[in-house]
Amino acid sequence: MSVTVHFLPDKVTVTAEPGEPLLNVADRAGITIPTGCLMGSCFACEVEIEGQENPVRACLASIPIDESVLIVHRYDDPIW
Ligand code: FES
Repeated sequence: MSVTVHFLPDKVTVTAEPGEPLLNVADRAGITIPTGCLMGSCFACEVEIEGQENPVRACLASIPIDESVLIVHRYDDPIW
């Protein structure tokens, strides 16, 4: 079962497979999520996923198997 992924504020929607790395999905959607270390330690890639309390590091995240829709809020952080 594929997952519909909405990226905000870009308003871009793509379909992804469970387990697919979030950065790959963003790349396919033409969305740039800033990255640094790609190892989970610099927090440059943080995004918010609707329904989750804490920000998620996109470089460590993958598409969940138990959701049919994922809403990803990308930060527009001028520092990065
Ligand atoms: S790129 Fe550094 S935490 Fe994700």
